[in-house]
Amino acid sequence: MTVTRKVAELSALERLAWQAIRDGNYQDAALQTVAAAALCYDLAEAERDSQYALDGTDLVAIAEELTSMAEPPKSQTPGTPISADEPAPLPIAELPKLRLDDVAGMDDVKAAFHEKVLRPLRHPEIYERFQSELGGGVLLYGPPGTGKTFIAKALAGELGVPFYCPELSGIKSKYVGETAKNMTRLFEEARKHPLSVIFMDEVDSLLANRGHRHADAVAQFLTLADGMQNGDGKLLLVGATNRPWSIDSAVLRPGRLGTHVYVGLPDPKARVAMLEGMLREVPCDPALPRTLLAEQCAGRTGAEIKEIVTRAKARAIERQIATHMEQQVGEADFAHALAQVPPGTSAEELQKFEEWRTRRHNPDQDQGED
Ligand SMILES: Nc1ncnc2c1ncn2[C@@H]1O[C@H](COP(=O)(O)OP(=O)(O)OP(=O)(O)O)[C@@H](O)[C@H]1O
Ligand SMILES: [Mg+2]
Repeated sequence: MTVTRKVAELSALERLAWQAIRDGNYQDAALQTVAAAALCYDLAEAERDSQYALDGTDLVAIAEELTSMAEPPKSQTPGTPISADEPAPLPIAELPKLRLDDVAGMDDVKAAFHEKVLRPLRHPEIYERFQSELGGGVLLYGPPGTGKTFIAKALAGELGVPFYCPELSGIKSKYVGETAKNMTRLFEEARKHPLSVIFMDEVDSLLANRGHRHADAVAQFLTLADGMQNGDGKLLLVGATNRPWSIDSAVLRPGRLGTHVYVGLPDPKARVAMLEGMLREVPCDPALPRTLLAEQCAGRTGAEIKEIVTRAKARAIERQIATHMEQQVGEADFAHALAQVPPGTSAEELQKFEEWRTRRHNPDQDQGED
């Protein structure tokens, strides 16, 4: 999970804990608080920020207090210890603020979302007349950091619907049958809303090729995906992977994760748009050559470009603190940041995706099908 997602999840958990406290449900509040504390420790490590660790310790103390205030839950016999196979906490949804316009480039993904989701929602009567259904799942595949999670979240934001992005560890279980059960609970929970997006990250690990230990998860996923548009709560399924070749082929058929869109390195136009977006409200030297900068960022993923911008800004901030004079982000700051963040995606890695795409010999599927 990326740092941005962890931070978003942290505030979602804190909101839920507060709501549970207001509802007098201290048991739930304690569970959300423990999960928030775990995220704080994660963030402390990922960001090397000791403030997160202190927050985590505070949250653990609060969770202990909440537990002592809680009545034993109704489903549990008083005094029964929580066993190792206690069901994982229900997945949490967020309502993202992101919009598709916030995503630079990725025209193929936007086109697939328009065709499969946005257009059918805008013209339901026409689609009904042609007996054509909304959705079918979309699989985004490509190297790490290219914005797969980002754009899936933007789809939910664009539609104003809940975004379910469960952590793999919350779904995948070492106990037989438990992964399938967790997946069913996720789908059931999401279907309580009229429409929602389920984002399945690292889908290769959850729904691996046949013969894998988690065959029950694959079978259950197929059942759930096939019934996706029946009933009241409609689901939009988006999967993401860095290893599409490891996914069970039944999962990749039409109606399941049947539309496959490659998410690669951003092209020059996308890099300019990305830099424009990231520098929008930032005090920059007016002479900063954006197009040249975008050229220098060639070979970098969206996540790497974001890191370059963060480092360039940090350098200007440091200067302002040292000089007590207003500073702007300039060319030298970027030169420095660019040297610190080299392209992390190798030509061999890109070649592997290209080979997978051509090996499938089914170009129609890569552009989306009905
Ligand atoms: N096209 C884009 N436009 C704007 N920002 C982007 C874009 N792509 C990536 N980013 C930035 O990079 C960050 C990381 O991207 P994200 O986590 O979505 O990548 P990913 O493809 O899901 O990576 P992974 O495969 O490791 O999960 C985003 O939060 C966003 O800030
Ligand atoms: Mg991701």
